[in-house]
Amino acid sequence: MIPLLELRDVTVRFGAHAAVREASLALQPGAALGLVGESGSGKSTLLRVLLRLQDVAAGQVLMDGAEITTARNAALRALRRDVQVVFQNPHSALNPRLSVHDAVAEPLLIQGGLSRTKLRARIDGLLDDVGLGPEFLWRYPHELSGGQKQRVCIARALAPGPRALLLDEPTSALDVSVQAQIIDLLRRLRARHQLAFLFISHNLAVVQLLCEEIAVLRQGEVVERGPVAAVLHAPAHDYTRALLASVLPPGINRLAAP
Ligand SMILES: Nc1ncnc2c1ncn2[C@@H]1O[C@H](COP(=O)(O)OP(=O)(O)O)[C@@H](O)[C@H]1O
Ligand SMILES: [Mg+2]
Repeated sequence: MIPLLELRDVTVRFGAHAAVREASLALQPGAALGLVGESGSGKSTLLRVLLRLQDVAAGQVLMDGAEITTARNAALRALRRDVQVVFQNPHSALNPRLSVHDAVAEPLLIQGGLSRTKLRARIDGLLDDVGLGPEFLWRYPHELSGGQKQRVCIARALAPGPRALLLDEPTSALDVSVQAQIIDLLRRLRARHQLAFLFISHNLAVVQLLCEEIAVLRQGEVVERGPVAAVLHAPAHDYTRALLASVLPPGINRLAAP
């Protein structure tokens, strides 16, 4: 199978510091890949490379088997439509002056081609998809909880009809009680829309719930990758073992596969 997104031997430098070092990974269509590693290991930088928001010093970025490492503008149209992102902090991701309706309408209006009636139906459908009823349409971000804001961000990400969501710690700014609801929503959305996920998290229990594959990043290097059950149950690297010990609450380091 040809990966939807692929990195080959990618290196990213900030001055003398290599934030990513010869990293390779592949996201297959419809697959869910978890990307874990401690703070500063280069996870967000890798995500920005995949979105072509970050230039690389060496290596290649491919979409559907075609190189997009240095592609610009029109050549990135498919990437901008098919690959959407959900960030950690929904409080800063939403424009405080836009209602829920307008926030979700924005990507649809940029795409164009919808009549007023169809636009409204599409917005209603997207809100329904993320579990927000019509009473939320004309609310503003300050009238929403953190979880509701993240649902709006997810609706915005789904609006262009993407094939992949790149999720950068999408629940770590939320209350613990809300995190499970958002994870459950993401699981259902992935199945309903046959989405591929690149899911960044430092919560390995959540990665186990959402992903089939995992890649472990350490100081910018991919030190381990493979099926999530295999890697978490029999980590090949001391670093992965240390990560498991540090992030998993006692009792769930031997979670059965979902
Ligand atoms: N724009 C930038 N300029 C300089 N250094 C950066 C920039 N973005 C990230 N870095 C550095 O690159 C490394 C990886 O950062 P990041 O990708 O944000 O890690 P993570 O998401 O795993 O916490 C860190 O050392 C960070 O300080
Ligand atoms: Mg990060």
